[in-house]
Amino acid sequence: MIEKDFIPSTYKFEPEQGKVQYTAPSNIALVKYWGKKPNQIPANASVSFTLDECKTITSVGFTKLNKENKDYSFELLFEGKSREDFKPKIELFFMRIEKYLPFLKKYHFAIDTSNSFPHSSGIASSASGMAALALCLMDMEKQMVPGMDPEFFFRKASFLARLGSGSACRSVKGNLVQWGEHNEITGSTNLYGIPYPYEVDEVFKSYQDTILLVHKGQKSVSSTVGHDLMHNHPFAKNRFGQAHENLIRLRSIFAEGNLKDFIEVVESEALTLHAMMMTSIPYFILMKPNTLNIIEKIWEFRRETQNHLCFTLDAGANVHLLYPEDEKNEVNKFIKDELIAYCENGQYICDRIGFGAKKM
Ligand code: DP6
Repeated sequence: MIEKDFIPSTYKFEPEQGKVQYTAPSNIALVKYWGKKPNQIPANASVSFTLDECKTITSVGFTKLNKENKDYSFELLFEGKSREDFKPKIELFFMRIEKYLPFLKKYHFAIDTSNSFPHSSGIASSASGMAALALCLMDMEKQMVPGMDPEFFFRKASFLARLGSGSACRSVKGNLVQWGEHNEITGSTNLYGIPYPYEVDEVFKSYQDTILLVHKGQKSVSSTVGHDLMHNHPFAKNRFGQAHENLIRLRSIFAEGNLKDFIEVVESEALTLHAMMMTSIPYFILMKPNTLNIIEKIWEFRRETQNHLCFTLDAGANVHLLYPEDEKNEVNKFIKDELIAYCENGQYICDRIGFGAKKM
């Protein structure tokens, strides 16, 4: 599909009022998206595990206005409280997607959103938040376009979510989601995420992700600024090439359930992401001393036990522990005995691979 396919022709019917509700999960990238072109086009393709527990629940009440408004008309509740400071982000999102949802200025929206994880946990909520909102708006559009193809519904939801936050397009459908054009991945596109189209061994379908909360404060540098610093970055070209190669490597790793190689790709991706931050101008470090302490401990644990516990990081200090379900007991004991000490207030979140967004 191309961008133009997401611009609707006139609606035959526009409901007077109603309410829609969706829950969308967070996701954790295995091959990272870091660097983008205008209009939220990624500089390289990426792939992620969809999470299960960490999610956003959003409802959108809508009422048709007597006449089309000049500005967007909406109110916003976050975890039950009105949050004026979140509004500019939604306004920017509406501005980016209006071309594809031309009804936006004809309605007043009451958006009510909350996360299953604490907002101050340092877990990015933009992916699940933007995906849930995009799905609600698509649910509304579906009412205006009776008989909408379900496949189109999810593609457009992912397309819109991407315009809110790149990684959000990977939080709509599927347990393993691929986003970004790649010449060796059928159906891949920069416009939306797709369920990973090749064979995936059973071991990955119940993979565990325990998120160690190392630093719960605000990040010193936002992802958006970080992406920007990949322009003119001395290693950008090699990095984008490396992501491309890692996606090729992952194809047989996923099919064969090759955990040894999986670990190598995933940990290398995490460290490369942070290496890009450390080598941009201006340079910055988002890992904390305890991030490194945890990584050391994981490597030691692996050497001693031959288990398949590995880590990945997003743009922050928290550590995602990835491991197969059948190693859960040993890993959980290791977390309690050795790793909790490095978490802020001993906090961590137990999650696992999930299957995508749901209508409520
Ligand atoms: C490190 O999707 O948050 O988590 O498109 O500017 O909203 P924007 O960026 P965002 O970047 C995510 C970066 C990452 C890697 C990843 O999820 O692939």
